[in-house]
Amino acid sequence: MKMHPLFIRIVHWTNAGAMIIMIGSGWKIYNDEVLFGLLHFPQPIVLGIWAQHALQWHFLGMWVLMVNGLVYLAYGILSGRFRRMLWPIRVREVVTEMIAALTFRLKHADLTHYNAVQKLLYVGVILVIIVQVISGLAIWKPVQFSFLVSLFYDFQGARLAHFLGMTAICLFMVVHVALALLVPRTILAMLTGGPRIAPEPAAAPVPLIRGDRA
Ligand code: HEM
Repeated sequence: MKMHPLFIRIVHWTNAGAMIIMIGSGWKIYNDEVLFGLLHFPQPIVLGIWAQHALQWHFLGMWVLMVNGLVYLAYGILSGRFRRMLWPIRVREVVTEMIAALTFRLKHADLTHYNAVQKLLYVGVILVIIVQVISGLAIWKPVQFSFLVSLFYDFQGARLAHFLGMTAICLFMVVHVALALLVPRTILAMLTGGPRIAPEPAAAPVPLIRGDRA
C-alpha cells in the first residue's frame, strides 16, 4: 500500500481546488458588504464579476467541498488513517519540533510519518473547515438554521466567525504550501503516492491462558 493511496490524492487535490474557489468567491461576496471598513479585496484576486455571480461559484465550491470532505472524514476514520497518520498529538513533541522547525533543524527524512507540528496543523485545519461549513450554513439560511446562528451569538457573530475561519485557512495554506515547497519530495508523494508502507497490522491474537488449554 502506498503512503497516500489514490483515493487520498484525489480527495486532497479536489479539496485544494474547491478551497481556492471558495476563498476567491468569498472575497468577492465580502466586498459587497464589508465587515471591516477599510478592507476590500482587489478585483484581480477575487472570483466573480459581481456578488451574485460570486455566490454561484461559492455554492459550487461548497457542494464539492462538503461531499469531498465528508468522504475524506469517513475514509480517515473507518480505514484507521487518522489514527495512524494524525494521532496522537503530544504537546511536548509539538513544542520541541516547533523549535526545531523555527531554527531549521527539523529533519524530514521519513516521509511516511508526519511530525507533531504537521499533525497539529492538519487536525486543526480539518476542525476549522468543519466550523466554517457550520458558520456558512448559518449565514446562508439564518431563519431555517437559527439554531446554528445561536452558536455564534447572532448573525453578525456568524459572519465574523466565517471571516476568521477564512483567515485561519488562508494562513494554513501559506504555511502548508511553503513547507511543502521546502521539501518538494512531499509534493511528489502527494502526486504519485509516495513510498510503500506496511498495511495495518491485524489485531494481536488474544494470548492463551495456561488453564484454558486443558
Ligand atoms: C486549503 C487547501 C488545503 C488543505 C485544507 C490541505 C490539507 C491537507 C491535509 C489535511 C493533509 C494531510 C492529508 C492526510 O494525510 O490524510 C495534507 C497533506 C499534504 N498537502 Fe495539503 N492541503 C491544502 C492545499 C495544498 C496545496 C495547495 C498543496 C500544494 C503544495 C498541498 C500539498 C500537500 C502535501 C505535499 C501533503 C503531504 C504532506 C507530507 O507528506 O508531508 N496541499 N494537506
